[in-house]
Amino acid sequence: GIIRTYDFTVSRGVIAPDGYDRPVLLVNGAFPGPLIEANWGDKIIVNVHNNITGPEEGTAIHWHGFLQEGTPWEDGAPGISQCPIAPSKTFTYEFIATLYGSSWYHSHYSAQYSGGVVGPMVVHGPTQQKYDIDIGPVMLSDWNHEEYFDIIEKMLAPNGSPRVISENNLINGKMNFDCSTVAPGDKTPCVSNAGISKFKFKAGKTHRLRLINAGADGVQRFSIDGHTLTVIANDFTPIKPYNTSVVTLAVGQRADVLVTANAGNSKSAFWMRSTLTVCTPAKQPYAVAAVYYDEADTDKTPTSTPWDVPDPGTCATDDLSLTEPLYPIELPAPTHTHTMDIELFKNASDVTLWKFGGVSMRANYNEPVLLLANDGNFTYPDVWNVVNFQSNTSIRVVVNNRTPGGHPMHLHGHEVYVVHEGPGAWDGSIVRPENPMRRDVQQVRPGGHVVLQFDANPGVWGFHCHIAWHASGGFFSSFVVQPKEIQKMRIPQSVENTCREWDAYTHRNVVE
Ligand code: C2O
Repeated sequence: GIIRTYDFTVSRGVIAPDGYDRPVLLVNGAFPGPLIEANWGDKIIVNVHNNITGPEEGTAIHWHGFLQEGTPWEDGAPGISQCPIAPSKTFTYEFIATLYGSSWYHSHYSAQYSGGVVGPMVVHGPTQQKYDIDIGPVMLSDWNHEEYFDIIEKMLAPNGSPRVISENNLINGKMNFDCSTVAPGDKTPCVSNAGISKFKFKAGKTHRLRLINAGADGVQRFSIDGHTLTVIANDFTPIKPYNTSVVTLAVGQRADVLVTANAGNSKSAFWMRSTLTVCTPAKQPYAVAAVYYDEADTDKTPTSTPWDVPDPGTCATDDLSLTEPLYPIELPAPTHTHTMDIELFKNASDVTLWKFGGVSMRANYNEPVLLLANDGNFTYPDVWNVVNFQSNTSIRVVVNNRTPGGHPMHLHGHEVYVVHEGPGAWDGSIVRPENPMRRDVQQVRPGGHVVLQFDANPGVWGFHCHIAWHASGGFFSSFVVQPKEIQKMRIPQSVENTCREWDAYTHRNVVE
């Protein structure tokens, strides 16, 4: 493989993706951040410089979906794999792209990613399906007009609501907004009709689109008027191609789709649409972009009509029977089964929080679990919500959702087998045991269950709801996988340094 080196500076800025000014955090001044592109097997090196000032904040960047085999300390999860990168400090991430397809990177510090620290990742690998043009990432994200920190503060106030309502929905960081709908008295600069994303298709040719739900909360339903989508991958898993007019993606999920421009002549134009499902609280759930064939007038908006694909209202994502991995792997027999319930509760101060597996997690940024485990320390405070799976090689996790919302469940460091998903309790059945779906985010529907399973990859790995607000409200756990192997790891000094620098920074800021 080749070495791909990137330099990222995270800093504050003000942008207006939909015309409404908002203070944000950006990677190299851009939203979405710059594309990371590599070939399968390449080494990716990213120097991340924390230049967040006024006020300062820590940061850390997670490479979503990558396995980090033998390098769990490069996972970018503060409190788990490292300490936050302190203000004015730099941390260099270095890992191998052992999976290929489409993904994204995002800050894993608090809910900072919903403040703008996100960007696409593309790893080129073999594909069996032919296509002509790679359109690249199509990032779908719900959008809030408030700063992420203010949202969390309100949510975690006594009698605050765990449901955060987004203001808009974006495709590749753009959408229009009707400024007449802002609250009276809100003097924030706002421009209506800020503009939408535009895509160029070549008539008769087949295009690859890399759909990424990089939002904070919302489940997206994506379609292009008049065009059939051929889905060829979900997350980092190539699948047997299937045709559909709509793809449903929960936060963190990806779909690679092929689209042939055969719905008109060379002057045609069509709407691309992504809509937040009815299960997602949103003021303006509709995102659109324009698709123009070669000779279409790109100053004109399309006039196409949407597919008739009503939202089923289940808060579930696309059925597991549709998605079958291209390269079969038989489900191994689990060596251990663990059950975790998702619950909502009010604490003694009337703050509504999440409980996951009986515990509401409180982040600890000073003592990363991986470093403690590497030192042979395996006792942790209950509120860290650490589960130690010991030497198990094949671990099954049954998740019961006892709440009225859907949750995108994400496990770091693994391509996870999706054993079963559905309403109510699990009946013990397995979807295609000879070749179950594998992905890194799986949605659990309200009142439903998911059964996930993974082959042990030694390390400490976050397992959490990918809804930014839920993770910040305690819906988070860490899995210690093969602790004996972790103790043998030689973790670079740079990881320990993040803790020394973070410690020095936080102590400097203690007012006594
Ligand atoms: Cu995409 Cu724990 O994250």
